[in-house]
Amino acid sequence: MRLHGKTALITGAARGIGLEFARAYIAEGAQVTLADINAEAVKAAAASLGPQAHAVHLDVTRQDSIDAGFAEAIDRMGKLDILINNAALFSAAPIAEITRADYERLFAVNVSGTLFCLQAAARHMIARGAGGTIINMASQAGRRGESLVAVYCATKAAVISLTQSAGLNLIAHGITVNAIAPGVVDGEHWDGVDAYFARYEGKAPGQKKREVAAAVPFGRLGTAADLTGMAIFLATDEAKYIVSQCFGVDGGNWMA
Ligand SMILES: NC(=O)c1ccc[n+]([C@@H]2O[C@H](COP(=O)([O-])OP(=O)(O)OC[C@H]3O[C@@H](n4cnc5c(N)ncnc54)[C@H](O)[C@@H]3O)[C@@H](O)[C@H]2O)c1
Repeated sequence: MRLHGKTALITGAARGIGLEFARAYIAEGAQVTLADINAEAVKAAAASLGPQAHAVHLDVTRQDSIDAGFAEAIDRMGKLDILINNAALFSAAPIAEITRADYERLFAVNVSGTLFCLQAAARHMIARGAGGTIINMASQAGRRGESLVAVYCATKAAVISLTQSAGLNLIAHGITVNAIAPGVVDGEHWDGVDAYFARYEGKAPGQKKREVAAAVPFGRLGTAADLTGMAIFLATDEAKYIVSQCFGVDGGNWMA
């Protein structure tokens, strides 16, 4: 029960990694608000986790939605100790085919969404004066370019940079800001990635995923559960001296 008495808001928690984080936090004694643009899915996800889980319909690209969603979560849980900025979109295209609309869509969710949810949490945590934990979901994609993934890589590089600056600014208030950079995590997100590579590299469905899995030094794709240890640790007092860092949890993938 390492998070007993703590409260958390996790964006993009209707499925995948965010949902697994919510499950793991509740198992450690936390109360969690699952926030997602998909209202029906997030309601069902929270219902599956029991009374310590709440759902809120929140679009991280809209300030009115962030304001209302955070207010509702804080009202229901009484306070906010932990934010996980997890909502994100992925896309892929050769440079010559990138559209402005797709660029703006990804930056709105992955970068603006991360910054303004972080700001909403920070304002509450500063006013409360009890510190806090903010975890941003980056990616190995933020640490280097990829031929077909320029926009997503750039958004995740921006998330790493925002983590560095926000961490430096907020540690004066006892708020730690750090990031987790997963490698390749199996789930619906990667099914979408696989479909992009099938289109642009002429691969059969599932082929890219198998190739990528075979190349992970650990020997397999990651699972959402592989990431929960870091997400819990960063929210404990043991991590209170860790500021502005980005931790790879990727089976050695980026290093390789
Ligand atoms: N899966 C991977 O291989 C992988 C690898 C590296 C990093 N990541 C990062 O981890 C995080 C979680 O990934 P995942 O695999 O669970 O993704 P996912 O696509 O399965 O889930 C993303 C969730 O975000 C929600 N969302 C999308 N737009 C939103 C918006 N505007 N407002 C609120 N919610 C919104 C979606 O409805 C969905 O529930 C993301 O930040 C992703 O970039 C994932």
